[in-house]
Amino acid sequence: MRILALNGPNLNLLGRREPGIYGQVRLDDIMARVAKRGRELGVEVDHLQSNEEGVLVTKIGQALGRYDGLLLNPAAYTHTSVALRDALLACQLPAVEVHLSNTQAREEFRHTSLTAGACVGVVAGFGEMSYVLALEGLVDQLRRKGAASSLGKGAKKRSRR
Ligand code: DQA
Repeated sequence: MRILALNGPNLNLLGRREPGIYGQVRLDDIMARVAKRGRELGVEVDHLQSNEEGVLVTKIGQALGRYDGLLLNPAAYTHTSVALRDALLACQLPAVEVHLSNTQAREEFRHTSLTAGACVGVVAGFGEMSYVLALEGLVDQLRRKGAASSLGKGAKKRSRR
């Protein structure tokens, strides 16, 4: 199983960016922790951070057929990007939206997510653990779906006999 983790604008600055909100951990360290948890779960996790909306849109568009699911922290684009939402809907891979902070407990403009409605779930407010929890939830969901669809195939085969 392969997961693509995408991080949006300014997340490359984690560690020195508003540490009272985002903590002192760096993005590389978070992604190393996610990759390690992925290995424990038997899952490969690739990672890309970009400050550019178009790069993230293109990566999502290319993910179908290469990955089984997406972890996405769209950062500020969460609250503004119709393009990211449309990319998620077009690519049709299960995606989990991740936030370090609890966006619902912050400024009102952060209460709206344009991307969450195109995701299977959202994890927010647990700092770096949000990423680990999101990975666990996504893998669990993908495995359940995989098991259900192979059961379905078995049932179809049986009914053809
Ligand atoms: C964030 C929350 C967003 O509102 C903000 O613009 C970010 C980070 C988070 O992880 O808490 O850049 O996505």
